[in-house]
Amino acid sequence: MKKVSKSLLIMALCAFMIVSFTGCGKKSESLKFGTNAEFPPFEFIAANGVIGEYDGIDIAIAKKIGEDLGRTAEIENMEFDSLLIALQNGQLDAVIAGMTVTDERKESVNFSVSYYNATQVIIVKEDSDIKSAADLDGKLTAVVQGYTGETCVNDLGYNYESFKKGTECVMELVNGKCDAVVIDSATAQKYVSDNKGLKIVEDSSAFEGEEYAIAVAKGNDELLEQINKSIEKMLSDGTIATLSDKYCSAE
Ligand code: ARG
Repeated sequence: MKKVSKSLLIMALCAFMIVSFTGCGKKSESLKFGTNAEFPPFEFIAANGVIGEYDGIDIAIAKKIGEDLGRTAEIENMEFDSLLIALQNGQLDAVIAGMTVTDERKESVNFSVSYYNATQVIIVKEDSDIKSAADLDGKLTAVVQGYTGETCVNDLGYNYESFKKGTECVMELVNGKCDAVVIDSATAQKYVSDNKGLKIVEDSSAFEGEEYAIAVAKGNDELLEQINKSIEKMLSDGTIATLSDKYCSAE
């Protein structure tokens, strides 16, 4: 009787260990990317996305990084402002969100090599008299809360109102409730092609060049190195250029 219960105990223990090991195995196989899928052509929701319902340049890059690392890339969609906090809390492995490298963000996370060059631009109505950033003086500009565009307009000292999403800013402009929207170039192109009567005003002297990179928690150097290798490969073999052509020209 004693013997039976002992072997039963050992069997139960083995079963438990197998279950927990497989559980662990599965967990480390996935690579959890956080994003904010409100930023076409980098990330947006689509019927048949590259990863589930998520599509865009960043999502395709995330998928390829997963493949290079032998892990399954997963997407967690959240508010842009919550991304770096979730990364620091260990809820995410990395953040890929058309995120501009800034000194302030570098204080809390590490950034990969950059994979895309962008700049802020101004979206206005076609008949607008705004021809440069200086013309935003005395006007009302819409920006997205927490985006670098908000920092730029704030630093320039012009009037602005912040919204949660780029599409909300564009609606304000279309409905005549503001005079301009300041947002990243490729996303602005997308909004202008989706909405009639809008145009883009560029001002490279007012808006500095920005670089997008993937954020990883401080101390996670192994993952950062793996991601860097994967991005460098995609930059040199033309993968990223092909992806950006594909998504920027897509209707
Ligand atoms: N590049 C800008 C920034 O870093 C905007 C990024 C917005 N990205 C997004 N997935 N919503 O602040």
